[in-house]
Amino acid sequence: MKFSHEWIEKNPWLLIGLVLLVISVGGLVEIVPLFFQKSTTEPVAGLKPYSALRLTGRDIYIREGCYNCHSQMIRPFRAETERYGHYSVAGEFVYDHPFQWGSKRTGPDLARVGGRYSDEWHRTHLDNPRDLVPESNMPGYPWLAKTALVPSDVTAKMRAMKRLNVPYSEEDIAQGPATLVDKTEQDALIAYLQGLGTQIKSRN
Ligand code: HEC
Repeated sequence: MKFSHEWIEKNPWLLIGLVLLVISVGGLVEIVPLFFQKSTTEPVAGLKPYSALRLTGRDIYIREGCYNCHSQMIRPFRAETERYGHYSVAGEFVYDHPFQWGSKRTGPDLARVGGRYSDEWHRTHLDNPRDLVPESNMPGYPWLAKTALVPSDVTAKMRAMKRLNVPYSEEDIAQGPATLVDKTEQDALIAYLQGLGTQIKSRN
């Protein structure tokens, strides 16, 4: 039988083998360079590891499940960049373990929410979103303002991040707890939100 497309299509095992080969080669060509490209592995200019307070706030964001309704990933489409600002780039997330890109948008994307509202706005909004946005279906988180942080907890978190190559110095880690004294969970969460996406400004 001569070697033709028809011949491949009539041999299921050969077809499966060739399909797998094509997908593997295609996958390798697309994925492997990402591990070596500067644009995906290097932090964007000005990106700093999370301060102790923001790192703590980030954990509260995860604990409260904010990611169930909010993504942190602006896609490079006009409809997104008009609304949220510059699209997200990989270098913004190199210190995020795990990253909070998410995929569910019951609420707006938060990738560039930093600096968009005042701290006071966030306090009112987190206590009861309907005080500011009457039609909001976001739950209130009033206990965050009433719960004090445990400063010593942050040391282990910073050490864990350091093990994942976040460049904290021993000095940063030693000073971490002192910056959390007399702060509430709400303070930490707001500090986290206010820094989101601020490395790349150009918001329309
Ligand atoms: C049930 C879904 C839901 C959950 C869970 C949720 N949100 Fe929201 N969020 C919304 C919706 C809907 C809006 C838009 C209306 C509004 O502003 O309240 C919103 C708005 C926001 C905004 C304003 C964004 C903007 O650009 O105007 C911030 C900030 C925010 N949420 C933070 C949080 C944080 C932090 C948490 C976790 C503590 C959280 N949300 C949990 C649904 C949710």
